[in-house]
Amino acid sequence: MFNRSTKRKIRKREGMEINKIYTGDNLEILKTFPDNSIDLIVTSPNYNNWRNRRTQASRKEFWERTNITYDNCTDKEDDETYEARQIEIINEMIRVLKPTGTLCYNHKDRIFEFEVKSPLEWILKTNAKYRQRITWDRCGMQAYNPVRFYRVDEDIYILGKEAKGFTWNKEAAKYLSVWRIVPNKNIYGHNATFPEELVKRCVEAFTNEGNVVLDPYNGTGTTTKVAYEMKRNFIGIDNSEKYNEIAKTRIKECGGSFFNFSNENV
Ligand SMILES: C[S@@+](CC[C@H](N)C(=O)[O-])C[C@H]1O[C@@H](n2cnc3c(N)ncnc32)[C@H](O)[C@@H]1O
Repeated sequence: MFNRSTKRKIRKREGMEINKIYTGDNLEILKTFPDNSIDLIVTSPNYNNWRNRRTQASRKEFWERTNITYDNCTDKEDDETYEARQIEIINEMIRVLKPTGTLCYNHKDRIFEFEVKSPLEWILKTNAKYRQRITWDRCGMQAYNPVRFYRVDEDIYILGKEAKGFTWNKEAAKYLSVWRIVPNKNIYGHNATFPEELVKRCVEAFTNEGNVVLDPYNGTGTTTKVAYEMKRNFIGIDNSEKYNEIAKTRIKECGGSFFNFSNENV
């Protein structure tokens, strides 16, 4: 339990430091973390959604269009490479997760050559146990010339090392399996940030105070900020120094009431 007088220590578990924002490649950094050390992961990778946006046509001019750009990630891989990396990082996240832990993995169906490609196609190839799918109803979308029903949803795949025996605060069942949460506009110079409410529900459901919450695609640090506010320990990883500076500032702006932060980490 934390209180205002608790001095935060930069606690080390083998290669892993908690209450730290790491800069670098998430897979390489995760590989330095010990097995069974994390209580909750809430994360959303870049979607590699750069081709066939809107019209779903595989024409060059559409390939070059995207509304999501990142500081240090092109998000333009061939999808086989992307999928293989997603499998590798999910397996790594499951390795570092405690048997009582949960991975909340946000992704969405994407369209390739007019056909739906579901994230389940790679999730089911991993070591993760697939426990539930939450539909994130984003409550609206940009209008365009439609070739199918307008889509307003993404998914949060609830995964684990184990299918049962995980930490679960059952009051959270009230949120049901469809979460109507309006997405953020472009804030902090990053146009794919989590709404804080989405992270809050995951933290509330799957952790208790003092647990360790990780986001290996931390961006501007919504997960780490919410974890900190809810008196959980946090670890963020992103390959953008710029986003990490914002993530650190967001935590400092919470007032530093739970921990004394070292400048080295945040
Ligand atoms: C969809 S955004 C996550 C945004 C975050 N949830 C937030 O609220 O700000 C994905 C993030 O992953 C980061 N990223 C992409 N590839 C990465 C890699 N190989 N290692 C570390 N970070 C990576 C990008 O810089 C980007 O900030």
